[in-house]
Amino acid sequence: MNIIVTGGAGFIGSNFIFYMLKAHPDYRIVCVDKLTYAGNLSTLKSVLDNPQFRFIKVDICDRPAIYQLFEEEHPDVVVNFAAESHVDRSIENPEIFLQTNIIGTAVLMDACRKYGIKRYHQVSTDEVYGDLPLDRPDLFFTETTPIHASSPYSSSKAAADLLVQAYHRTYKLPVTISRCSNNYGPYHFPEKLIPLMIANALNNKPLPVYGEGVNVRDWLYVEDHCRAIDLIIHKGREGEVYNVGGHNEMRNIDIVKLICKELGKPESLIIHVQDRKGHDMRYAIDPTKIHNELGWLPETKFADGIKKTIRWYLDNRTWWETILSGEYKNYYEQMYGKRGLHA
Ligand code: NAD
Ligand code: DAU
Repeated sequence: MNIIVTGGAGFIGSNFIFYMLKAHPDYRIVCVDKLTYAGNLSTLKSVLDNPQFRFIKVDICDRPAIYQLFEEEHPDVVVNFAAESHVDRSIENPEIFLQTNIIGTAVLMDACRKYGIKRYHQVSTDEVYGDLPLDRPDLFFTETTPIHASSPYSSSKAAADLLVQAYHRTYKLPVTISRCSNNYGPYHFPEKLIPLMIANALNNKPLPVYGEGVNVRDWLYVEDHCRAIDLIIHKGREGEVYNVGGHNEMRNIDIVKLICKELGKPESLIIHVQDRKGHDMRYAIDPTKIHNELGWLPETKFADGIKKTIRWYLDNRTWWETILSGEYKNYYEQMYGKRGLHA
């Protein structure tokens, strides 16, 4: 099997590559990544010499380059992780989100149509369903919940999902879509909640919680997500959507307090800053379909996963400190300065 993994130098894509090379040592994995601010070739250093692995720096919107790659590689499967993925950045500047997340998806699927494919898999998000109210804990997102996106990021992902379903219906492209909840684990870029709080706490810097911190996310250890995608590309039914989630809902403020506790840092580091515009209140996935059809269940409990994650950030300081000392510094000052936080 020859698999093209796009966005493999990012958080989940890199974890997926490690997972697949271990689970299927006979597969060839070709990683396509533009290496944006969120992509990091050093993340892949442990596999760069693996003869089953190839890295190629390409933008998924670059049609000729993508077509050439298909001519060279004849992939059986494409798994598309490549995306602009940060909600806050999408609120500041939506355009690149439309370009990569929508046009890039179309280019990849056009290549699949032109050269033939066994499976095109779109890595989507629970955010396409919008949010749920805090006072209705009985409600969950199922695969039939209507699309109702809130941010430029989630609406670009929703548009891509609609396009994937349209290519299935119109061209009979053999597609699947997974919609996953919030991931955490190694190689998570420090602009996102959990790694940002770990890094700031380790540096004794303020921990900026948006608004009251009562927003709820459903956290899943990244390896559980990778296993779900492995199952879907092999056994999932063509044309189907699979929700993937951990049944692990937590309020942001409780996550931040837990990180303080695990690191032995005072909660006085927590500072409430200006809220995110249009901030989604609660995400909660109902994963019954993937459980019943493919036997998937999350394996890592949050209490263990967060300890493993913190351990990873302690053991891999160079990885995230290199990011923090680069362009990220300007991003942080601008984004958090606007929210009323001055370092
Ligand atoms: P990330 O931002 O860490 O990584 C994205 C990767 O895509 C980077 O390596 C970047 O260089 C690459 N990329 C961006 N634009 C590209 C382009 N035009 N061409 C080629 N490569 C490009 O993102 P992530 O958190 O790993 O998310 C991966 C996917 O999973 C995204 O599609 C995201 O929507 C989805 N997802 C993420 C989560 C989560 O909690 N992080 C949850 C559900 C779904
Ligand atoms: O639900 C899946 C989605 O999860 C993915 O599709 C996205 O790609 C991914 O980035 C993530 O989106 P969120 O917006 O939920 O993740 P983020 O880590 O940015 O924020 C999580 C929550 O924490 C959210 O309610 C905002 C809040 N937050 C975030 C940051 C960065 C803070 O309170 N302070 C912060 O500094």
